Amino acid sequence: MKKGLSSQFSFCPALRDMLVSGATVGRTGKKFDKLAALSTVNNLHILRGLHLHLKARRTLEVGLCFGGSCLLFTATHQEISGRPDHQHIALDPFQKQVWDDAGLEVVEKAGLSGYLDFRPEFSSTALPRLLEGGDRFDLIYVDGSHIFEDVFIDAYFGSRLLSENGIIAFDDCSDPHIQKVTKFIRRSLGSSLRELDLSPFRPDRGRSVKYKLALLTRKLQMTAFQRIGVLSRPWNVKFNNF
Ligand SMILES: C[S@@+](CC[C@H](N)C(=O)[O-])C[C@H]1O[C@@H](n2cnc3c(N)ncnc32)[C@H](O)[C@@H]1O
Repeated sequence: MKKGLSSQFSFCPALRDMLVSGATVGRTGKKFDKLAALSTVNNLHILRGLHLHLKARRTLEVGLCFGGSCLLFTATHQEISGRPDHQHIALDPFQKQVWDDAGLEVVEKAGLSGYLDFRPEFSSTALPRLLEGGDRFDLIYVDGSHIFEDVFIDAYFGSRLLSENGIIAFDDCSDPHIQKVTKFIRRSLGSSLRELDLSPFRPDRGRSVKYKLALLTRKLQMTAFQRIGVLSRPWNVKFNNF
């Protein structure tokens, strides 16, 4: 397992070390040795594949926390463009008070801060402002609040912030709050957001029994949709139960 991690994440030694040790340290020295909130290895592997596949030039994530996914995005930007331009935005209102700036610290130590634009804000206020400002992103990762109404807002604004063919990915999709949001997208927004088959991006290429079971029972950890059309709907469109 650990040997596998070494080669899988060789592009970012700081991320590899965090995954191998299962621990990290905040700015004032606070130790975190249970990284339950950290994105899973599978998620990180998929995000890396999507980032490279899209050659994503601008990315956004809701929820910085320990900086696992942030390391992945910033290191991949470094690899793709080589020019630090704060091309990855990370939102997290609790980074300092709850996480002792652990995410910012690890990104800084890895020399990747130039690729990051961190905003200590709730996504519900930051995302509408980004939309109003005309920002667009090729890849968005939603891994912030896991409450239905917050994730719904992330989905609403996140999907509108996607560039053409851009992808929005949701973590923890077996959680009923998040499942409800992805179900709404499937039932009502299918003509503008197409669900992606993520199996080619998984380390097991979707061949494991565990993955096949999760697929059958719609209990996948990660779900992603690609923007294929305009997101507006007529004001009086028929309601689809979901
Ligand atoms: C599961 S963790 C993210 C883990 C991160 N992707 C990683 O790999 O290290 C969720 C994070 O979302 C943040 N969060 C919670 N509610 C939020 C909101 N409304 N807007 C933005 N971030 C939020 C939390 O402070 C927490 O750091």
